[in-house]
Amino acid sequence: MRSVVPDYLAEVLRDVEADASGRLAGYIPELAAADPERLGAVFATVDGEVYGAGDVDVEFTIQSISKPFAYALALSDRGFDPVLAKVGVEPSGEAFNEISLENDTGRPRNPMINAGAITTHALAGPGDMTPAERVERVVRGLSAFAGRRLRVDETVCASEMDNAHRNLAIAHMLRSHGILTEDPRAVVDGYIRQCSVLVTARDLAMMAATLANRGVHPRSNEQVVDGAVVRQVLSVMATCGMYDAAGDWATQVGIPAKSGVAGGLIGALPGQLGIATFSPRLDGHGNSVRGVALFERFSSDMGMHVMEVPPAARAVVRSNQIRPGTGGMTRIFRLQGGIRFAGAERIVREVVETAPAEPRVVLDVSLVSSIDDVARRMLLEVARRLTLDGHEVCLVDPETMIPDPDPGDGGRLTVVGDLEQAVNPRPITSGRKNESKGS
Ligand code: DON
Repeated sequence: MRSVVPDYLAEVLRDVEADASGRLAGYIPELAAADPERLGAVFATVDGEVYGAGDVDVEFTIQSISKPFAYALALSDRGFDPVLAKVGVEPSGEAFNEISLENDTGRPRNPMINAGAITTHALAGPGDMTPAERVERVVRGLSAFAGRRLRVDETVCASEMDNAHRNLAIAHMLRSHGILTEDPRAVVDGYIRQCSVLVTARDLAMMAATLANRGVHPRSNEQVVDGAVVRQVLSVMATCGMYDAAGDWATQVGIPAKSGVAGGLIGALPGQLGIATFSPRLDGHGNSVRGVALFERFSSDMGMHVMEVPPAARAVVRSNQIRPGTGGMTRIFRLQGGIRFAGAERIVREVVETAPAEPRVVLDVSLVSSIDDVARRMLLEVARRLTLDGHEVCLVDPETMIPDPDPGDGGRLTVVGDLEQAVNPRPITSGRKNESKGS
């Protein structure tokens, strides 16, 4: 059987194909000469599957889509505070190339507009790098997000530099406010090289999937940046990625995104997939016309809006029963599914309302598919309080969902591999870690 996903992508491409509205970016001859009919779309899942339709392997320049990734590199290389001191995170509601800074601080409003992106470029890599070393650091970083070595289109780069008057004006203004501390021309040159990196829609989908996968490339498994950096980048993409169309995008599409003037558009759906489209004709905001239409379709057809309230999760407490066993009467809470705060709260409530009278209490997580940090801590605290109430507490955890099962002060937790062992404990139990005792 053929997968339904590529067929769906091909169908949606056919639906938007006829739309010839919008215009090619015309500020340099290379972009004005692009083939306006190019059209492609790619989905890359967080476990490394790639589906595409149309022009998925045609190279074009990354342009502004480099901005969130360069921001990620700067945050990673310098830390949050030095970057936030120089570039804000407020949506500007202005065009991408607006010559404006915050009135009081002189900071660019966010890293997605050119003023912020030029500053961000200067913050990539350690502070003592030469401009050429910084460009190499950025190209290497973008390549790690893509999972292959990317290269600069020298012709586009030279042409952009010949026409960089506005970006040079922005950089000089940044220099006069002390936001940039080095030669503005060298920084703009580096920023333009960054924008001139060649990518395909397939590359962009992998780059977006790396963000969706908390900074880990789905195929190379390289941790390119850490989870805190990704959260910051996705937040800024969600609020500022589509410039002065950010509000429309947030309400109609609802996927953290970034566009580029060569016609690329990416979206990163946290925990699910990276999406990239390529179609060079742009709307008045500088966003790809058919790219926006494709994303609107994807979002509505497949419920991808990040603010879509998910259906209530299946009950996390699968059963709550008593069984007799060699260890005495045993109360068993069998848990299931993905557990985050709300699920953990439901479990705590179930235990509190049950107020077990049995000497043994079992928490069985063998049907749990994921458990986040807060839920793990809440379960361990439940185990600790049950111990203090005089129960013997046992955790059934064959897949090591709770890798460090220490319930803390006064808590005592026996970990076993199956429910049978928990109800009928053998005199000497075997398993990963039989007993974990709070100090
Ligand atoms: O800074 C510039 O003018 C370009 N090289 C990049 C701008 C861009 O892609 C704007 N996004 N839609």
